[in-house]
Amino acid sequence: MDLVEEIVPLPDRELAVLRPRDSESLLDEEAFEREERMPYWAELWPSGAALAREVWSRPVRGKRVVELGCGGLALPSIAAALGGARVLATDWSEEALALARRNALRNGANVETGVCAWERPDELVERAPWDLVLAADVLYERRNVPLLLELLPRLGGEVWLADPNRPPFPDFLVGAAAAGAEVVSTGAHEPPGVGLHRLRFAPGR
Ligand SMILES: C[S@@+](CC[C@H](N)C(=O)[O-])C[C@H]1O[C@@H](n2cnc3c(N)ncnc32)[C@H](O)[C@@H]1O
Repeated sequence: MDLVEEIVPLPDRELAVLRPRDSESLLDEEAFEREERMPYWAELWPSGAALAREVWSRPVRGKRVVELGCGGLALPSIAAALGGARVLATDWSEEALALARRNALRNGANVETGVCAWERPDELVERAPWDLVLAADVLYERRNVPLLLELLPRLGGEVWLADPNRPPFPDFLVGAAAAGAEVVSTGAHEPPGVGLHRLRFAPGR
């Protein structure tokens, strides 16, 4: 795979990660036909960088953390592991996870990876409760709203999401509030246009 390096600044250090130069060439026709899978895992998304910065600026040492839809860059997972958390980075793409492992190693971060499709999350649910669930830019498709509203409360109490105002995101927030989640949202993050949302689901749901 032809890879290029991206430097992602954190407040007092930087992460150096690799991504495929041409993500469009990675489209797997069979996976697209089957589950409409796109190779979105192969890009540097502003939300991943924003969530990594947020994680880096907060104490996560000793926490059990899981990231959903980490992609190949897994920036929030890498930041959490460097901050002392025990981290499982997940995605439904094996290729994404192979690159995530390589990127974690490159930055000296110890990150476990595991395949998890939100449609089939049993293994992840069995390992719950997680202290913290991370996810960046995972609500870009309307079909992801009910999937994640069902899954997130089963994983743990606290969820941090970064989202660049994707059209389905407001419906997700309405659904989360209806499910009893406390939601604290902040905007104006670097990069601009990405919102950070902290959700706390009531225990025992
Ligand atoms: C827009 S990308 C964001 C990647 C990464 N979080 C970031 O911000 O750079 C969405 C990610 O979610 C993953 N994904 C999409 N649908 C999924 C599903 N149903 N189950 C698990 N992962 C999924 C994709 O493979 C991709 O890595």
